[in-house]
Amino acid sequence: MEKAKCVRILALESSCDESAAAVLDERRGLLAQQIFSQAGLHRVFGGVVPELASRDHVRRLLPLVRAVLEQSSTTPHDLDGVAYTAGPGLVGALLTGAALARSLAYAWGVPAVGVHHLEGHLLAGLLEADVPPLPHVALLVSGGHTMLVEVLAIGRYRLLGQTRDDAAGEAFDKTAKLLGLPYPGGPQLARLADEGRAGVFEFPRPMLDRPGLEFSFSGLKTAVLHAVRANPLTEQLRRDVARAVQEAIVETLVAKALRALDETGLDALVLGGGVGANRLLRERLARALAARGAQLYCPRPELCTDNAAMIGVAGLARLKAGEREDLGIRPRPQWSLDSLAPIAA
Ligand code: KG4
Ligand code: ZN
Repeated sequence: MEKAKCVRILALESSCDESAAAVLDERRGLLAQQIFSQAGLHRVFGGVVPELASRDHVRRLLPLVRAVLEQSSTTPHDLDGVAYTAGPGLVGALLTGAALARSLAYAWGVPAVGVHHLEGHLLAGLLEADVPPLPHVALLVSGGHTMLVEVLAIGRYRLLGQTRDDAAGEAFDKTAKLLGLPYPGGPQLARLADEGRAGVFEFPRPMLDRPGLEFSFSGLKTAVLHAVRANPLTEQLRRDVARAVQEAIVETLVAKALRALDETGLDALVLGGGVGANRLLRERLARALAARGAQLYCPRPELCTDNAAMIGVAGLARLKAGEREDLGIRPRPQWSLDSLAPIAA
């Protein structure tokens, strides 16, 4: 009998300001990945400038593809498909990845598959040796989304709750900006918070006193603005405010994640998205889950922030399930997670 072919794919990510490429193999996992962050390009503008992001993806993606193919000793003949982020995200940025992926797949005579960015974040944990069990609850916290999702199977996601306004990453970035930190503020604010004193400021824990699994982070900006306006912006003040901001966000996320485990009766939580790289959040979740005998699955920080490996995991699953795209190039800047087709296990 002929041995089943081991599927190997190229994956691209370009939904926002990271250009990334990866090569994944069904059996050996992640073979190579490269990420180029455009943060330096957008810093002077204090946030992502969509047009600049698209132009830079055009410049960066192809060299990244070349690099990952070389790094993994892969030739186009070894590839069985090309996965790319089709949405949600910035339309121009998505278009660059979609056009390149679709064209490469056409030239190489292999199928292309458009991946939902959030499905990528949800499945990043599959790249780690300790694979999360199904079903589980996922806490997905990024610059654009904050949601609790019941992951029933690959492709079967039930939204338990999400933010009504700002995402957790946005709350980090916007309050960081008020403190004069350069874009992207989240990781910088986290570093500053390490040097802050506990209890000097106390910011609201939005929606914590109400039942349910929704979040709201927009009030945090106003609270920080008041604190910053009412006091001289000394270095110590910035540290203390940063610490209080991080505390408020992390405490809210942990409390709601535990509530989601209670409500679903599940005992495994998977962390995903850029804010999942936050050390305090990882530590607090680990402690809270250990105390109740539940399991926490935290992909390493570089698999939490935007990357192509996670797009590859989702793409591989979808290609293996027979998903194929026609020759159209259709980015999907708005794309709901629950519209995805389930994949049979
Ligand atoms: O998932 P991601 O890389 O991109 C989106 O899909 O949005 O998430 C980026 C977000 C940004 O808001 C960034 O500030 C935040 O994740 N972030 C962090 C940390 N690392 C990244 N926030 C807090 N602490 C961190 N260590
Ligand atoms: Zn993301």
